[in-house]
Amino acid sequence: MRRVDCFPVLFAVALSCTLAAAGQAPVPANALYKSAATPLEERVKDLLGRMTTEEKATMLSGSGWMESAAVERLGIPAIKMADGPLGVRSWAGSSSITNSVNNPAAKVTATSFPSGVAMAATWDTELVKQEGDAIGQEVKALGRDMILGPTVNINRVPLWGRNFEGYGEDPYLSARLGVAYIEGVQGEGVIPSVKHFDANNEEFERHRIDAHIDERTLNEIYLPAFKAAVEEAHVWTVMSAYNLLNGVHCGEDAWLLTDVLKKQYGFKGLVISDWGSTYSTAPTVNAGMDLEMPGGERMRNWMATGQPTAAGNGAGWLTADKVLAAVKAGEISEARLDENVSRILRVEFESGLFDHPHAGGGKVDTPEERAVALKGATEGIVLLKNEGGLLPLDAGKIHSIAVIGPNAAVARTGGGGSSLVRPKQSVAPLDGIKERAGAGVTVSYALGVGMEGENAAQDTAEARAVLLKEAADAAAKADVAVVVVGRYPKLEGEGFDVKTMDLPAGQDELIAAVEKANPRTVVVLNTGDPVTMTRWLDGTPALLDMWYGGQEGGKALAAILFGDANPSGKLPVTLPKRFEDSPAFGHYPGENLRVDYAEGIYVGYRYFDTKNVEPAFPFGFGLSYTTFEYSDLKVVHRIEFAGAVKTEGDVVTLKVKNTGTRDEAEVVELYVHDGHSKIDRPAHELKGFKRVELKAGETKTVQFDVDRAALSYWSPEKKDWVAEPGTFEVQVGASSRDIRLKGTLELKQ
Ligand code: BGC
Repeated sequence: MRRVDCFPVLFAVALSCTLAAAGQAPVPANALYKSAATPLEERVKDLLGRMTTEEKATMLSGSGWMESAAVERLGIPAIKMADGPLGVRSWAGSSSITNSVNNPAAKVTATSFPSGVAMAATWDTELVKQEGDAIGQEVKALGRDMILGPTVNINRVPLWGRNFEGYGEDPYLSARLGVAYIEGVQGEGVIPSVKHFDANNEEFERHRIDAHIDERTLNEIYLPAFKAAVEEAHVWTVMSAYNLLNGVHCGEDAWLLTDVLKKQYGFKGLVISDWGSTYSTAPTVNAGMDLEMPGGERMRNWMATGQPTAAGNGAGWLTADKVLAAVKAGEISEARLDENVSRILRVEFESGLFDHPHAGGGKVDTPEERAVALKGATEGIVLLKNEGGLLPLDAGKIHSIAVIGPNAAVARTGGGGSSLVRPKQSVAPLDGIKERAGAGVTVSYALGVGMEGENAAQDTAEARAVLLKEAADAAAKADVAVVVVGRYPKLEGEGFDVKTMDLPAGQDELIAAVEKANPRTVVVLNTGDPVTMTRWLDGTPALLDMWYGGQEGGKALAAILFGDANPSGKLPVTLPKRFEDSPAFGHYPGENLRVDYAEGIYVGYRYFDTKNVEPAFPFGFGLSYTTFEYSDLKVVHRIEFAGAVKTEGDVVTLKVKNTGTRDEAEVVELYVHDGHSKIDRPAHELKGFKRVELKAGETKTVQFDVDRAALSYWSPEKKDWVAEPGTFEVQVGASSRDIRLKGTLELKQ
């Protein structure tokens, strides 16, 4: 903990902090800010009024790798952070330290929740909120105060190394899930940090890449999840991104941090820098950066290695000495300093840090938390193909299963980097299947191919030939083969992009060989990014996408395979046939450290569906073990008055019936098509979804409210959202390419 009288950097300024602090009157026990009964803003004001300039200046940078600065004299606590967003991760230092299995400091274990893209595939906002709750509880149990998540960056390119962390390609879906996660975390009195603001959509040169994005695209695609986090969830902190946006580093972009975030959206919390993304003092503070991370000795040691600078990181610009010097020179006003500190204090008061510090010593990985992780992993599995009803497997009829693949016997819970949680326990697909299959079914295992780069001895041509033969033999002998393929943290993670959309070396050949040996083959994808499937898909009868399913992934997979749970997940991203088909192809990773988002608003299905490019599997798609019938679409215009305030909008209702024999959930999707607009608009845009649980034979009425915002586009001329009067088409369906019902609504003006 940094003490106000013991930091050496202040020697650089005339006033020593010790003297300043010593000159202060002692703080009375009944000081206003100390009482939880005092209104929040008064607490902030009272406390701020008692602080010296020096004390304020210490608060603008971290005191360590994962702690903000405390001011002991006044009882201001440090905010103790932990990485996320997919569970609580060790706070011992940078990923290079905490990734190491042998490092005792890294041995914090917690529930490993499914990757963000898997949670997005559930389309279950209630469940994501429960995940936020559970993570909040674990943060407190471990004595921390803040979780660095959710990640809501849009999956623009199939090769982004962090696609697995966020909620997919659609801004509306990302916004809904981001809000749910934040509400869950904040409900526990734990501080989330929605990240990375903004346009962190590739890892290639992530500290230097300059994303050039037009204003309409920013507002329609890359900002909405942050806007919703602020306006709806009232998020307490926002983390700026590493990259530059239209020529300016996000960490010192006054337009982004102040004009958009703080003024336009009304953000009252604090902006925190991504780790090592500051490059100046006054310009950064004046742009609206409130807290630089990391700080203290760890940061200085890290910078001293030279590695961060070589990679393009910057740090150590908001240290007290530099901030005070800038204040003295008039480059940072006292008012600005007060503004930064008030924001930090406001979040500390609001989250309850002053009144209920998190002592730690609690339990993690409780049965309840594990149940949330399991539910997420199960609901997130997407059934992409199921020819001849191969699935679900009937444990009473089959006698043997061959479980094959480099991701079969190892639990690949998540992608690499700061989100990778170390679970206490995890279930690999093979373990899950064995446990579920029971004594009557023989489960054999073959590696089939080593994971590329994991074990050099398995990567030779000879070793591959042997492994492939073993796998084909095992498949041939079994009633059913399950091949689990995908990537692992060294091939998919933070800090680098995935090299190719193709599966790692030898996995295509493995699938083809297993399918040849046994036509009853189920292929399971265990990866966060889309993969090329053209080499084997035609011969694949059954295909599941389990993403990275967290610690319970293997158990969830077994439940879906055997029909204990019914698949209800739907794709939160389009799966292209080839990378060349995806909208960002040709505009990635950029040249000379500049990437132009030339595809504009045509991201994901907005591109595929408008330009009629056939994907491997469309956005919103997912099969089930039952069938659903959609009927009776009605659109009713509604005007309501609450006193003098008039709200006007349309209510869309329809019926959904489970026409099969199994209880199952259906995700109903609502898209809006604007056919009369003066400007170019996508074929349609997602503006509503509902996950509906339906018993076999049951019918439910589903309702959506369509307001003006759902009909609007961003007008750069008007600098505002515009909905053009006229007829809009409302489309309801089971995927972006499976529209079952259509209706119209009229917008008068
Ligand atoms: C990542 C952030 C993470 C931070 C702290 C950065 O490299 O981009 O997402 O929260 O490190 O570990």
